Amino acid sequence: MKNRSWRTAYAHALPAEEFDRIDAGLADQVESWKRIVADPEVNLVLGEQGPHATSAPESGAVVGMACAGPRRPFGDAAMVLAGTGLSEGDLPERELFAVYLDERVYGTGLADRLLREVLGDAPAVLWVLDGNARAEAFYRRHGFEALGAPAPLGGSWGEHSERLYVRR
Ligand SMILES: CC(C)(COP(=O)(O)OP(=O)(O)OC[C@H]1O[C@@H](n2cnc3c(N)ncnc32)[C@H](O)[C@@H]1OP(=O)(O)O)[C@@H](O)C(=O)NCCC(=O)NCCS
Repeated sequence: MKNRSWRTAYAHALPAEEFDRIDAGLADQVESWKRIVADPEVNLVLGEQGPHATSAPESGAVVGMACAGPRRPFGDAAMVLAGTGLSEGDLPERELFAVYLDERVYGTGLADRLLREVLGDAPAVLWVLDGNARAEAFYRRHGFEALGAPAPLGGSWGEHSERLYVRR
């Protein structure tokens, strides 16, 4: 489901073969996610088909996920936070790692519910692809604001960068 959501959200940002490579690495990703959620400080919630769905995905199918945990250190903090007067230690201690929906349940309120379940109203940071306008609007509605300078992603992402968003 997450990889399908990536295909929708990042179709303009990644080469098509990159999505095939990600799909091919699914088994490794599952193992990696198992390690992530084994941390008792990490919350993961799944959204299944239900009253939130606008159309009818397969019965019982997972149509959304969200995950939050302790903020990860980021290597380019000095560059991102330059000019803000802040250092990494001033940022909230929680990070929203992921919110991904099946496109068929966009706009149904499921993302609101997943975000609340995984993070409540807690202060947190997150990273979002610069120009992912729908996600940025969603996060702003939930009290997050962009902070600092865009961080270039490099690799398969080419010229794209990501933005740090913070809720205090
Ligand atoms: C990001 C995501 C979780 C948000 O869930 P959602 O159900 O689509 O969000 P909502 O419909 O509640 O809110 C979307 C907001 O974007 C706005 N919006 C919709 N399309 C837009 C566009 N093309 N440009 C700008 N804003 C847009 C909506 O008006 C709404 O804002 P509002 O509540 O202030 O009116 C979901 O779209 C998703 O999974 N996207 C793909 C994966 C992704 O990008 N995840 C985030 C990774 S950081």
